[in-house]
Amino acid sequence: MKKILVTGGCGYIGSHTIVDLIENGFEVICVDNNVRSSPRILEGVEKITGKKIKNYKVDLCNYDDTFAIFQENDNIAGIIHFAAFKSVGESVEQPLLYFENNLQSLINLLKCVQEFEIPYFVFSSSCTVYGNPDIVPVTEMTPPKPAESPYGYTKQMGEQIINEFSKAAAKTKCILLRYFNPVGAHPTILIGEMPIGRPANLVPAITQTAIGKLPQMQVYGDDYDTRDGSCIRDFIHVCDIAHAHTLGLEFLLAKKNTKKCEVFNLGTGNGVTVLEAIKAFEKVSGVKLNYAIGPRRPGDVIAIYANNDLAKKQLGWKPHYSLEEMMSTAWRWEQKLKADEKFYNGKFSELN
Ligand code: WQD
Repeated sequence: MKKILVTGGCGYIGSHTIVDLIENGFEVICVDNNVRSSPRILEGVEKITGKKIKNYKVDLCNYDDTFAIFQENDNIAGIIHFAAFKSVGESVEQPLLYFENNLQSLINLLKCVQEFEIPYFVFSSSCTVYGNPDIVPVTEMTPPKPAESPYGYTKQMGEQIINEFSKAAAKTKCILLRYFNPVGAHPTILIGEMPIGRPANLVPAITQTAIGKLPQMQVYGDDYDTRDGSCIRDFIHVCDIAHAHTLGLEFLLAKKNTKKCEVFNLGTGNGVTVLEAIKAFEKVSGVKLNYAIGPRRPGDVIAIYANNDLAKKQLGWKPHYSLEEMMSTAWRWEQKLKADEKFYNGKFSELN
């Protein structure tokens, strides 16, 4: 069984990807320092897969501690790198925290990839690298525009670092996966998204408002040049994103890559407005959402959605979940969090 090292495996997309990897015959170890996640999410992974996942509670910014993981596991067949800070707003307030954390951890990891000649490296990137595109849908060839935040710059820089590394590293092939807007929860509702504090992202803000955790949510602007005035996004189910990572590894293992560093968009290809997303939630939940139209949010991209032909053609990937299923799993997960408040509530440090 091929052993895969997943960094940030206690996070939202990382935990869903571990489930998919195990269900597709891979062995998985996790590295997560749990400063922005709880190791208890792995209990949900174990309930779904029947496998207990070993987590190395290590900060990848510490090179020696990271190196020690590779010394202890001499048969790592590939790495999927999720671990990073990802709040757009926080990155604007604390740019150096983001550049140090997201880039130092990546460089340490790549140094170990080089030292231990790890053959395959998959990087969690983002549609943020496109900035505010002039034309949609965006393809992998759409030239990146200036990022809208330091977080976005860490993804753009991360891609450049990996690209240059892959040219020099004879033994390693890389894939960059550009996620659009991951939403929803695993259909078993045993794992899902666990935002810390007030959620910045749309769907957790919707579900927390619907369940009464937030009194009201704001739609950040309805005066954009779009069909209903609100921004357009490409919402994609987290399980569709997760499966793309498994297919990406299998693509590399089968030596189907034609470049040392391949790039793929992971979106449904459907642009959905914020107000349409709210209507879809109301339809599946039966809840009338309490929202108000507020001012635009600085840095927001007006419209972005994916051309996903390359991932379909090269990886054999196809998004399966509908917008309604994204909303229904997100809602069921929010209801589960409320029911298990003692388990999930409070700071993650109390859960460790
Ligand atoms: C979506 C739309 C908001 C909250 C982020 C990251 C990106 C990627 C996906 C990682 C916008 C509107 C939101 C609210 C609202 N992450 N909104 N009220 O900004 O598109 O992208 O997540 O890969 O890197 O930047 O996602 O969910 O924050 O916003 O009206 O309370 O919903 O204005 O138009 P975003 P988001």
